[in-house]
Amino acid sequence: MTSIYDAIKKDHDRHRELLNRIAETEGASEERKQAWTEFYRDVKSHSAAEEETFYSKLMEQTWGQDAARHSVHEHAEMDEILEELREMDMSSSGWLTRFKTLKHDYEHHMEEEENEVFGRAKEVIGQEENDAYGKRFHDRKQKELGLIEEKREDALED
Ligand SMILES: [Fe+2]
Ligand SMILES: [Fe+2]
Repeated sequence: MTSIYDAIKKDHDRHRELLNRIAETEGASEERKQAWTEFYRDVKSHSAAEEETFYSKLMEQTWGQDAARHSVHEHAEMDEILEELREMDMSSSGWLTRFKTLKHDYEHHMEEEENEVFGRAKEVIGQEENDAYGKRFHDRKQKELGLIEEKREDALED
């Protein structure tokens, strides 16, 4: 079984790899397109699953609300850039500039989760629940992967 912390960390490591690959590849190459599509889908479902399993638990505690709100706010900001990039021409210099902002912000976000938020969360999701939450996170993420386009259309209608 995978603990919630290992599950999140494993995703982050994959996201770091993909961010580097996208930064190193050129224009609208096949390799960059592939890495981008995987990154876009995985980050969206990862963040949604984090909110629904991990952060909602942290928010139950008065002392956890601030950290949770901070992270969820960053998810919303990153989502905006993800959507912007999706609509832009990948081979334009503007795309790469915007991507670099996302890369910088998201790397910072992951570091903060691992180094600060995990420590606090361990007070509410302790060892005996680690695996159950890991499974919940994993299941929710799978479900979210199937909801990306639907949720996006809902957001565009608003
Ligand atoms: Fe996050
Ligand atoms: Fe995360």
